[in-house]
Amino acid sequence: MRIAVGSDHAGYALKTLIVEHLAAAGHEVLDLGTDTAEVSVDYPEFGHAVGAAVADGRAERGVCVCGTGIGIGIAANKVPGIRAAVVHDSTTATLARRHNDANVVCLGERTTGPAEAIDAIDAFFTTEFEGGRHQRRIDQISRFDSGATEASLSSDNPERQQPTS
Ligand code: RB5
Repeated sequence: MRIAVGSDHAGYALKTLIVEHLAAAGHEVLDLGTDTAEVSVDYPEFGHAVGAAVADGRAERGVCVCGTGIGIGIAANKVPGIRAAVVHDSTTATLARRHNDANVVCLGERTTGPAEAIDAIDAFFTTEFEGGRHQRRIDQISRFDSGATEASLSSDNPERQQPTS
């Protein structure tokens, strides 16, 4: 798979580990920087770059790393078509794929240890989207990318009387 990867200085060491891990697993990695932990940079540049690479097809999915994964994920999510999920472990990474069809995974070097981060990466890149009721919700999110200003109402959901999850 072609994977775009980006970080700020606070995520550089974990990004380096992830790039090596993905390449060793046979993925084609597009490393969009930053190139050192020694120079402070601003995470919006790198989050947006990863999101743009996924949205325009240069990459199928993306990985973002900053101190917490939060700021860089917010920036990636500003790109239409991007569903960037901050994850902390393999459980949240798995659910981000199964339920949210996330196309960008975000990790925090200051909040998730390297072994757990690699477990999360492996889960993210081996888990399929479940579709079904989750597809309807993804379609609702996608409508915002097309300019919708109001959400669909849950009361319009024909399945709403059934147990939900
Ligand atoms: C940089 O100090 C830090 O704020 C950044 O990496 C990230 O954690 C922001 O969300």
